[in-house]
Amino acid sequence: MTTVARTRSSAELIGAEEPVLAHNYHPLPVVVARAEGAWVEDVEGRRYLDMLAGYSALNFGHRHPALIEAAHRQLDRLTLTSRAFHNDRLAGFAERLAALTGLDMVLPMNTGAEAVESAVKVARKWAYDVKGVPDGRATIVVAADNFHGRTTTIVSFSTDETARAGFGPFTPGFRVVPYNDLAALEAAVDDTTAAVLIEPIQGEAGVNIPDDGYLAGVRDLTRRAGCLFVADEIQSGLGRTGHTLAVDHESVVPDVVLLGKALGGGIVPVSAVVARREVLGVLHPGEHGSTFGGNPLAAAVGTAVVELLETGEFQRRAAELGVVLRGGLQALVGKGVVGFRSRGLWAGVDVDPALGTGREVSERLMREGILVKDTHGSTIRLAPPLTVRGEELREALETLGKVLGQGG
Ligand SMILES: Cc1ncc(COP(=O)(O)O)c(C=O)c1O
Repeated sequence: MTTVARTRSSAELIGAEEPVLAHNYHPLPVVVARAEGAWVEDVEGRRYLDMLAGYSALNFGHRHPALIEAAHRQLDRLTLTSRAFHNDRLAGFAERLAALTGLDMVLPMNTGAEAVESAVKVARKWAYDVKGVPDGRATIVVAADNFHGRTTTIVSFSTDETARAGFGPFTPGFRVVPYNDLAALEAAVDDTTAAVLIEPIQGEAGVNIPDDGYLAGVRDLTRRAGCLFVADEIQSGLGRTGHTLAVDHESVVPDVVLLGKALGGGIVPVSAVVARREVLGVLHPGEHGSTFGGNPLAAAVGTAVVELLETGEFQRRAAELGVVLRGGLQALVGKGVVGFRSRGLWAGVDVDPALGTGREVSERLMREGILVKDTHGSTIRLAPPLTVRGEELREALETLGKVLGQGG
C-alpha cells in the first residue's frame, strides 16, 4: 500500500514541532518552505521580504547562483575527507581568505561559537608559549553585553543572565569591562592578559556601534600591552557594514579575526579563525581540531563566498543601500521610532515601547510580509541580504512606518 504524503499547513507544522523540538527558540509563526534572493515563501505560498538574512548568514541572499553552482559542482566530486587526509580545495580557500582579511593563516571550523572557542584556546596558548604568562594564569578581557555564542565557556563571559542561568559552573579567566570604554579596558589589561576579545559592532546587543576611534584605540592599547586583539566579525563581517570587515572602518588590522555565518554562503556552516602566523603558529598536531572543519564542500562554498567579496560589489551595495536605510529610519524618528543605530545594511531600531515590544512589532511586520527579528525590549534588528534592491528596501521601510503608525 502506498501512502500519499499530505502537505501539512503552517499551523499544523508549528503544532507538530511543539512536543518533539526543544523549546530553545521562540520563532515567529511563519513556516518557510522555499526562498530565492531576498524573498522567502511559506507553506501556503505567502511571500515575505527577508530583512533578517539568517543573522547575516545570508548576506548574499538565499541560494545565490554562484554559491549554489559551487556547492553542486563540489557535491558531484568530493564532500568530506576529514583532516586525516588533505583535500584539493582547502589550500585555495585558506590562501584567498587570508588575503581577503590581510592576515596570514587560517584555522577552519564550522560554527561561529567554535571559532570563538578556538580563538580562546589559541590566545591562551599564545600567552603561555610566546608571551610567557605563567601556566594557568592567562586572562581574556571581553566587553559587557557581548554575544559570542552559546557554549559553556562562551556563556561564562556573557553578561546576559538568560544565557547563563542554570548553566554553571563557568570557565574562569575572563574579565568583563564596559563596551566602548577605552579607560576601563586599559585598567583591566595586565601582564596576564592574553587577548582582548570584542565585537567591532555588537549585533545581538542591538547593533551597538562604538564611538569613532574606539577600534583604533583597542588596536593601540593591545599593541602597547603586548596582548592580542581578537575581533569577532562573525556577524559584522563579510560585507554587512559596507566594508569587508567592520574594523576596516577604522583601517584597523586585528591580530585575530573570527568569521562565520556568511562564510558558508547560507548553504553550509563554515567558520574560521584568521590570524597572524605568530599566533596560529602555536598550534601543533593533535592540540585542536574538528572532523568537519575545512571539509571540501565547505572550502568550495567558502572560496566562492570570498570570490564574491573580492569583486567589492557587495561591500559597495551595503554602503550605498545603507544610505537608503539610514534615511528611511531617520524619517521615522519621532513617528514610532525613538532612536536607531546603523552601519551599512545593518540597523538596530528602538521602537517606542508604547507601540509594543520588539516581538509584537516583528509579528505585525510579518503579517505585512516583512520578516525581522527583535533583540531586547522594544528593539528590532534590520539586516536584509546585501542583494536586496533599493526599491524593496524603501517599501520595507514604508511598511515599518505603516505598522508603527497603526500603534499597538
Ligand atoms: C558576534 C557573534 N559571534 C558568535 C556567534 C555564534 O555563532 P553560531 O551561532 O554560528 O555559533 C554569533 C551568532 O549570532 C555572533 O553574532
